[in-house]
Amino acid sequence: MPESRTFDIRTFGCQMNEHDSERLAGLFVARGLRPAQPDEIADVVVFNTCTIRENADLKLYSALGHLKAEKARRPDLQIAVGGCMAQKDQDRILERAPWVDVVFGTHNLAEAPRLLERARVEGPLVDIWPAPDPDAARDMAPALYAVRESDFAAWMTIQTGCDNTCAYCIVPSVRGGEISRPLEDLVREAALLSARGVSEITVLGQNVNSYGRDLTGRSPLFAELLRRLGEVEGLERVRFTSPHPKDLREDTIAAMAETANVCPQLHLPLQSGSDRTLSRMRRGYTAERYLTRLAAARAAIADLHVTTDIIVGFPGETEEDFRATLEVVAEADYDSAYPFQFSPREGTRAADYVEEFVPAEVVKERFLRLKEVLDRSALRHHEAREGLLEEVLAEGPSRTNEAVWSGRTRQGKLVHFDPPSGLRPGALVEVRVTHGAPYHLRGTVEGVLRPPRHRTRLSVLAS
Ligand code: 5AD
Ligand code: SF4
Repeated sequence: MPESRTFDIRTFGCQMNEHDSERLAGLFVARGLRPAQPDEIADVVVFNTCTIRENADLKLYSALGHLKAEKARRPDLQIAVGGCMAQKDQDRILERAPWVDVVFGTHNLAEAPRLLERARVEGPLVDIWPAPDPDAARDMAPALYAVRESDFAAWMTIQTGCDNTCAYCIVPSVRGGEISRPLEDLVREAALLSARGVSEITVLGQNVNSYGRDLTGRSPLFAELLRRLGEVEGLERVRFTSPHPKDLREDTIAAMAETANVCPQLHLPLQSGSDRTLSRMRRGYTAERYLTRLAAARAAIADLHVTTDIIVGFPGETEEDFRATLEVVAEADYDSAYPFQFSPREGTRAADYVEEFVPAEVVKERFLRLKEVLDRSALRHHEAREGLLEEVLAEGPSRTNEAVWSGRTRQGKLVHFDPPSGLRPGALVEVRVTHGAPYHLRGTVEGVLRPPRHRTRLSVLAS
């Protein structure tokens, strides 16, 4: 009997997870399921989870709790939990939420549709692979099938896993070691996306600088990948996240500077500005080395937009360590930054530093102090762009106001503007910045550079 059920994938966490969900959606569609409408509860609900900090875990259990009564009413509703938290908690998910049907991990995402079929016959099941299968991780099919949310901007995973051992981070234990996808596959995927009208690709990896090390057995290929993406016809913007400061090499900086479609944007996670804390975090660089590399990138790449991640309250962090972070933040002069409060993750080295945990109220207080400094810096950068003409990829109505549209500049800054009549998402426009606010820019459209490159869904249907 043909499949007529609907599915809904609810995603927590990072862009890598968002894109994994697009790939999973493609696999469901290939099996004949269709996406549920926003106002209906699907026949298959999948949670693609995150476990980077404790609040991500709490969010999942609360969301599962909301579905318990629905499952009691509709026993044929299927609920699956996959991704990072499932990889970590395994059987514990079914113990805490026995109304779940399938638990799968980070390494067998592509198996999820089959596991759901099996569970219809066999009942609830947990299938977690202890390690990734490199062939499965490099398989091109899930990317080709992916049902992407946007027609004109796409994510492209170039590498999964991480070979580093940062003391606070759970990623290596749930995502495994680094596995890079073959360079030619990536160039082919980028060319296919561009041929379909995608004009912006964000390259994803846990540690993009080391992309290709596992393929060549020696030097990474990231700079070469950027240059090759630079040759993809029609591809106007390439972004990437995240490079590791210790591995940001001159060849990457040169490739960024010399490849016209690589956007002037660098997310360079600092984590701490104290050398003592950086060493205990096992980050592999000092504050001075970080700042030297950042200065090299800024010197080579015009108008570089720099962002970062910072953890406050790492175990043993003193007021002096925290001030060192504030000093580096002042010197790095970030466009924007994501501060996080340290969250102990089971199985990581830092989770064992219990005696040195910083009291919660001290962490909170430092977080707020840091946030204030970062917000001021972001506002300063945004105000400095007032009067400039920016090239903006128009995305469509903004989240809070239908009449106002949003888009991104080449630097990746969010801009709100009033759309000229007839403007369609995916068009490239020129926007004069009229106002810099803390989290966005405001501007007026001065010209439409080109219409969308992709065919609209209606024209696809008509052809
Ligand atoms: N506690 C707080 N923040 C964390 N991050 C990673 N692990 C933790 C943790 N245990 C932050 C880092 C990383 C970002 C994605 O999340 O800053 O760069
Ligand atoms: Fe985690 Fe460090 Fe790897 Fe980033 S580089 S994923 S912080 S272990």
